[in-house]
Amino acid sequence: MQTTRLWKIEDNTQENQIAIQEAAELIRQQEVIAFPTETVYGLGANATNHQAVAKIFEAKGRPSDNPLIVHVANREQMKPYVAAVPPLADKLIHAFMPGPLTVILPSNGTIANNVTAGLSTVAFRIPDHPVAKQLLESCQLPLAAPSANRSGKPSPTKASHVYDDLYGKIAGILDGGTTGVGLESTVVDCTGEIPIVLRPGGITKEQLEQVVGNVMLDPALAEQHDKPKAPGMKYTHYEPEAPLWLIRGTADFFQSTVDRIEREGKKVAVMCSEQLAASLQADQIKVIGSQHDLTQIAVHLYDALRSFKKTDVDIILCESFPQTGVGEAIMNRLTKAASVVVDEEK
Ligand code: TXA
Ligand code: MG
Repeated sequence: MQTTRLWKIEDNTQENQIAIQEAAELIRQQEVIAFPTETVYGLGANATNHQAVAKIFEAKGRPSDNPLIVHVANREQMKPYVAAVPPLADKLIHAFMPGPLTVILPSNGTIANNVTAGLSTVAFRIPDHPVAKQLLESCQLPLAAPSANRSGKPSPTKASHVYDDLYGKIAGILDGGTTGVGLESTVVDCTGEIPIVLRPGGITKEQLEQVVGNVMLDPALAEQHDKPKAPGMKYTHYEPEAPLWLIRGTADFFQSTVDRIEREGKKVAVMCSEQLAASLQADQIKVIGSQHDLTQIAVHLYDALRSFKKTDVDIILCESFPQTGVGEAIMNRLTKAASVVVDEEK
């Protein structure tokens, strides 16, 4: 077991400067450090060093064919690693970075090849969080950083989530409180004529279109929503401790599903909006925000998924949300987390 340092960063004090410098020094020594970003906590290591990056995969238990996002302090720091910054990528960078957007650019092959999983492209993001910014400034290195959870678990939005998953497996955790957006960045492939959203996230398709016009959603995203869940899908994602059923239908249908499972003697927990909660009878109800403000649902989603313990719950039932704005990202994550989608219409 590795010693894991814990630093609490409350505001811009002298002690905080020292903590960030200590974390940066460990990164320069090719260690792995968890740090807050505005989306979720990241698990960072020197993206130019193969051995340092290998420690990320080991700590997370992450399959090596899943590439990592490289975090930099500014646009200039992408240049040493890319073959070009296509004009549409440039527009998106100027409009949304720093912020919850990741751009896929053509690689020039200099970034460690376990970052890119051997692809000819590399993903970049400029995080908009004071602690992430100071860490990048202080270590003066590009940081490869996936979400700081064990592979398959919900991404961490609090330092305590990182602690639960990775304590003893990494060199340190910078605790900067709860993250702002709550879901990961939007990943956009900028290597073709039209930008393609590979993963919906904090920046919506509508926002991207305002800057670059036509934007496509990766067709694979729609398939995930429409196809019934098959056993043996490649990897599990965002998995809570009890099976999650995603319910599509009216409040009455939701209630009848709760009743049916409870009649079987099973313990049901519900994750839903305050509006649905008001008309629902169930043993455990976790309210994650309002139907009128999907950004709040995004903020609370992963914490809620982590809050249920298998000793208390047999099945988690979750409300579906409209796929507009950040709802696209919310439904993408919920569909991946769900073992079953129960549709009133079918
Ligand atoms: O908000 C975020 O993006 C967080 C914070 C920590 O920055 N990071 C994050 O990383 O979510 P991770 O590893 O959990 O997700 C990275 C995603 C994966 O879906 C991966 O397949 C995709 O980005 N990705 C990375 N490089 C890629 C590439 N060259 N081509 C296509 N997809 C890529
Ligand atoms: Mg992740």
